[in-house]
Order: sequence, then C-alpha cells, then structure tokens
Amino acid sequence: MAMTKEKYDIKDINLADQGKNQIEWAFKDMPVLTSIKERFEKEQPFAGLKLSACVHVTKETAALCVVMKAGGADAVLVASNPLSTQDDVAAALVKHYEIPTFAVAGESVETYKEHIEEALKHDPDIIIDDGCDIVATIHAKHPEMAAKIIGSTEETTTGIQRLQALEAEGKLKFPAVGVNTSLTKYLYDNRYGTGQSTMDGILRAANILIAGKTVVISGYGWCGKGCAMRAKALGANVIVCEVDPLKALEAAMEGYRIMPIAQAAKEGDIFITVTGNKHVVDVKHILSMKNGAFLANAGHFNYEVNVPDLAAETLEIKKIRPTLEEYKLKNGKSVYVLAEGRLVNLISAEGHPASVMDMSFANQALGIEFLVKNKGKLENKLYTLPLEVDIDIAKLKLKSMGLEIDTLTPLQEEYLKTWNI
Ligand code: ADE
Repeated sequence: MAMTKEKYDIKDINLADQGKNQIEWAFKDMPVLTSIKERFEKEQPFAGLKLSACVHVTKETAALCVVMKAGGADAVLVASNPLSTQDDVAAALVKHYEIPTFAVAGESVETYKEHIEEALKHDPDIIIDDGCDIVATIHAKHPEMAAKIIGSTEETTTGIQRLQALEAEGKLKFPAVGVNTSLTKYLYDNRYGTGQSTMDGILRAANILIAGKTVVISGYGWCGKGCAMRAKALGANVIVCEVDPLKALEAAMEGYRIMPIAQAAKEGDIFITVTGNKHVVDVKHILSMKNGAFLANAGHFNYEVNVPDLAAETLEIKKIRPTLEEYKLKNGKSVYVLAEGRLVNLISAEGHPASVMDMSFANQALGIEFLVKNKGKLENKLYTLPLEVDIDIAKLKLKSMGLEIDTLTPLQEEYLKTWNI
C-alpha cells in the first residue's frame, strides 16, 4: 500500500515489514475486535470524522487504529508514554496502514509533548486517550478546540481520575467515556493483563528468580490483585500495602501480609507500585531497603516510585541491562530500578497480550461509536458504557474461546422474581 501522508515521526521506516507481522499476530488473538471491524467496514460509523489517539504504540493499539480506520475514521496516533513505543509497529502503521504516527521509543519528554501537539494539529472530532494527556492539553492550552469535539474515551484509572477532577471543577468541555469502568476492561485487563505483563517485565528486565522472594505490592485495586496473584503463583511471599481498609481486608483474607510501606520497605526484595498515586515508595523508604532491592512501577505515571528525588541520594547510576539500572546510594547500599520507574510491563516487556487487549479495545471502539451515535444528546460528563455492551463483549469472547454457558429455564426465571416461596 502506498503512503499518502508524508507527516509522521518514527524511528525507522525499514522496520515496517517486521511491524506488519506483529500487527497481524495481534489480530489473530483479537476475535472480538475483528468482528467489530467487519461491522464497521459495512456501516462506516466514523465516515468524515478525524480521530486523534494517544495510546501506547503496541501491536494491539495498531489493531485498534486499523479497526477505527476501517470504520471510516481519519486517524493519527501518538504515544501515551515516551518509552513504551514498539518502533516496528509505528513504522508499519505509517507504511502499510497509512496511519500517521508520531512516536519513537526513548523520545524525550519535550518530544513526547510535541507529538501530543501533532495529534491536536489533526483537528480531531473524536479522541482516544490513555492517561488523559490529549484531553488535559486541550483543556489547559487549546480550549477553543473543544467546541467541535464530539467526545473522548479514556483507557486508564489515572486518566479517569483526571477526568473526574475536571468534571468536579465543572470544566469538562465534552462528554467522555471511561473505558476503565467497563467490566470487560478492568476485571480482565487490569487483573490478568497487568498481573501477567508486570511479571513478564520484571523477568525480562532482570531475569531473577521470584520463588522465595518477598514481593511488596503497593495498591490492591484490580491491577494490584493481579500482580499479587501472579507473584504468589511464582512462589513469592507477598506483602500488600494499602490505604483503603476494605481492600486491605480483602488482601489479608486472600492470605497476604498487610503492613505500612515504612515497615514493608525493610522486608521486601521486589517492590511493585500499582496505585495511580504519587511517592508511594518515597526516598526515605528506599533508603531503608535491603541492599539489592528491585523497584518496579506498573502504574501509569512515573511518580509512584520517587526515582527523580533519589538522584540526590545517589553516587552513581550504572546501566546493567537494557531496562535495569543500579543506583549506588550514598548510604552504601544499591537498589535496582526497572524501566526508569515508568510502566515496567510496557517498557521492559510488550504490555498486555492481545487476547486481553481484545476486550479493552473493543470497549474503546464501541465507546467512540456510543459518543458518535449520541452526538448532541450527551452532557459534558464522564460516562460508562451500558451493561449490555459488556455482556455482548463477554459473549463474543466466550464464543471465540469455544466455551458455552447455561441459560435460565422459565421456571428459574420465575423463581428469581418470587418473594413468597
Ligand atoms: N496497556 C497495557 N498493555 C497494552 C498493550 N498491549 N497495548 C496498549 N496499551 C496497553
């Protein structure tokens, strides 16, 4: 396929054929998204609409963009993290799928922001965001753009927190769909996706044995549950740190040890943050850790482990392996920081596998369709897709897995509606 758009910023166009193989590989495990693509090809729900997407540039995201384009959208893609881009996928999107892409693995924060501006120069009608950077940039710097925007979808907990903050201040300028509040997103992607890809990232970065180690998980939301479950399955002793009494109680009943991070810091061998908050593992905690502790973050932003402020306590940073750095501390100990404190699952590994992104990105595609179909009828609020959409996605996924379930008999249906038994 010839390239019609000249504007893009990628590492190397010669990686395009390799990237195409990757995207085709992802599609094989994305049956739900594929069935949506077939419908979109016929119905063209996005004909004449411009889409700007800011999502990790992976083979799975490429599949989503291809589906949106099949539905008629004129799409551009930028990265939602400076380090997570798969350069071969970015090249394939430009060369083989004619989707302008602005993303280079390892780009500076400045270039990352310039790429967001490129996404805005596209003058979008619809937005797919992962972390709220496009939407926040429009609200902070280009509020005049909001008038033509039909709406946006948001992939992550962190992005939804930012949208909720905008909504609470009465400043949200268009409707948004929080994909992360769909059951077929958070119950599967956050738990099984983050659980597996975080361990994958730690193993690829450091290739250490997990069995017998003490793994400290900060945050017992769905991502934390997944990380704890997978660490335990590999033989770790798991400690959970929480601020929410209900979640802490849940973790305790699952058999994990519960304690404040100040205490866990002294016991842990491997630390994983999945809170969506700031300085959860702070410098004072790091200074009290054992010599040789590993620090990994699987939350959206790189604030959870306070790596920037660790510099003042560090004599030397030594690169050990591609995404593993040793911080030789002034107190005589060393700690190992994975992926510079950024998303370990996407930077040291490849993010969640296609099979689970299939459902997350089905929600993205259907979320945009919901916004377009309801154009002019929605308030400038944060929406969750209707439960029927979750049920349809789950049915399609079960079917693709060759699994059948039971249906209620008329007698059972009646029984469930009866109080006088
Ligand atoms: N977030 C987690 N895994 C991902 C993937 N494979 N692609 C895009 N975003 C992701």
